[in-house]
Amino acid sequence: MAVLVTGGLGYIGSHTCVELMNSGNEVIVVDNLYNCKKSSYDRIKALVGKDFKFYECDIRDAEGMSAIFEKESIDSVIHFAGLKAVGESVEKPLEYFDNNVNGTLVLLDVMRKHGCKKIVFSSSATVYGMNNISPLTENMEVGGVTNPYGRTKYMIECILKDLYVSDESWSICLLRYFNPIGAHKSGTMGEDPNGIPNNLMPYITQVAIGKREHLNVFGDDYDTHDGTGVRDYIHVVDLALGHLKAVKKVEAEKGLFIYNLGTGTGYSVLDVVKAFEKASGQSVPYVIAPRRAGDIATCYSDPSKALNELDWKAERGIDEMCEDSWRWQSQNPNGYPD
Ligand code: NAD
Ligand code: WQD
Repeated sequence: MAVLVTGGLGYIGSHTCVELMNSGNEVIVVDNLYNCKKSSYDRIKALVGKDFKFYECDIRDAEGMSAIFEKESIDSVIHFAGLKAVGESVEKPLEYFDNNVNGTLVLLDVMRKHGCKKIVFSSSATVYGMNNISPLTENMEVGGVTNPYGRTKYMIECILKDLYVSDESWSICLLRYFNPIGAHKSGTMGEDPNGIPNNLMPYITQVAIGKREHLNVFGDDYDTHDGTGVRDYIHVVDLALGHLKAVKKVEAEKGLFIYNLGTGTGYSVLDVVKAFEKASGQSVPYVIAPRRAGDIATCYSDPSKALNELDWKAERGIDEMCEDSWRWQSQNPNGYPD
């Protein structure tokens, strides 16, 4: 029996596929290649040393998805496929609701029709919104989100909760990721954003390699130790390993489970810049810029529920996250080949 990984050629999906296969799972990937390169498939294959099935298909294509479920023996699904750029979601809300919410509805309906009722979903710390105080725990109220992307995650959480209420034979795990950074140790897989990066770490690595002149630090007057925003950065391989535990959970038990995947430690923007400079030996010039709309001062997890119930905790620290991000960027200055 296989794990179907939607969005499996993307940043987090590719790292998760490697860890799944390295620990003996059969993996089938579905991706429409909207935000990744096909060469990501070759890099995964090279790392695990064996072939695996890949379907180029959009999760909104009910017929295409049904055909995959008919052909393959799929036991559970890890659902990464989606659009993820906060700013873009403000410009293109319909595309975000269609891809993320409608895509998930189509996927769930196809799963149900084929008797596959085990799913791990990529949610986000963004569902905690603006008003909860860190450390964030899973029992806090969610939903005070400020942008369409965040709302799609919140809406999908609601859909999955309602689905479980209607049919308790489902096994559903909502994973709320904090800020994934880092890359595979080999330097062959990492984050490959299109155009100007929105997120901090890819922006820093592009400054370090000379593609961008300087980092804009969005605000230095927050109520934090140095005035810059504090986040819970988590190594993408730790995040991937969290999915292995979550798949085990949904395979073993019926229920609706929610876990934070974070380290529990917050670092400011300037902490990350310093850690990156130390790890890479490169300098990262920066200028203080105005605050970015929608940002909060501080966001970090209480990751103890995942430790207690999944026996998972993040093992890799900020120095390793920076070293691995730099290795990926410096070995692949233009990201994945076409
Ligand atoms: P990514 O863009 O690298 O990967 C997503 C993959 O899904 C891409 O390969 C893309 O081509 C594919 N895809 C998108 N729409 C699709 C569709 N309709 N049908 C089939 N494939 C489709 O993103 P990522 O960083 O790996 O994020 C994975 C998931 O985790 C997303 O759902 C994202 O919202 C969520 N998440 C990401 C972060 C983060 O900071 N990276 C944080 C929290 C949650
Ligand atoms: C981190 C910190 C910025 C860029 C986003 C999404 C969230 C989740 C993870 C998907 C903040 C500062 C950033 C720059 C900067 N994604 N920054 N200069 O905003 O915490 O979370 O990605 O679910 O939903 O909102 O991450 O990496 O954009 O920012 O100063 O050029 O770095 O202000 O304090 P964020 P980020």
